[in-house]
Amino acid sequence: MHDSYWRFHRDQFLEIVPPPGRLTLDIGCGEGRLSRDLKALGHTIVAVDSSPTMVANARQADAAIEVHLADAAKLPLADAVADLAIAFMSLQDMDDMPGAVREAARVLEPGGRLCLAIVHPLNSAGSFAGEGADSPFVISGAYLEPFHYTDELERDGLAVTFASRHHPLEDYFEALAAAGLLVERLREHPMPDAAIRRPRQHRWQRVPMFLHIRALRD
Ligand SMILES: C[S@@+](CC[C@H](N)C(=O)[O-])C[C@H]1O[C@@H](n2cnc3c(N)ncnc32)[C@H](O)[C@@H]1O
Repeated sequence: MHDSYWRFHRDQFLEIVPPPGRLTLDIGCGEGRLSRDLKALGHTIVAVDSSPTMVANARQADAAIEVHLADAAKLPLADAVADLAIAFMSLQDMDDMPGAVREAARVLEPGGRLCLAIVHPLNSAGSFAGEGADSPFVISGAYLEPFHYTDELERDGLAVTFASRHHPLEDYFEALAAAGLLVERLREHPMPDAAIRRPRQHRWQRVPMFLHIRALRD
């Protein structure tokens, strides 16, 4: 239980996730924590990740969930098999984000939905100048240019490096539009009071850390 997922992010994201239907696809499932939580809520899950280690961990954590080792831009699934696709904190890590969005749309039936969570493009473009709650948020480079970045996280003795790509918001919207996906919800939650552990985290009540989108396949 090491990150924002359990403290607030999962529950904020679930606000835009439709109730269980025919089939829910978890794209970039990682070790499968959201797949398992969605299963507990009644979803029938098929999960996909391109990391052999993550797939092995997801299978080990719940052998009853079907987990594929595959690139999200080339899903091993037939057209229109799912009514819900989830991409929780994975699209910003993918080499071919538009290809992954196109594939999500392909495997969705008409009327199906893609729910995604990403690092908010403001967050990946800039940073706070200081630790204070009212510290200025500064974008010193170019918001409009995509670029690679890494985040080193260390907590409770576990060290993880995330390699991600900044995209301006327009890149995501253009990918959704090209795939025939129509945005129907967009959420920018502040960090809830109950999740604040250190004074500097109040900064995330002024600037969104994550972006949540729900899009409809027409
Ligand atoms: C930040 S993790 C999020 C994992 C999971 N959704 C969660 O919240 O625990 C991003 C995941 O995307 C996967 N990923 C990155 N590129 C991918 C690709 N092209 N196709 C499928 N999965 C990919 C990574 O292996 C990683 O497991």
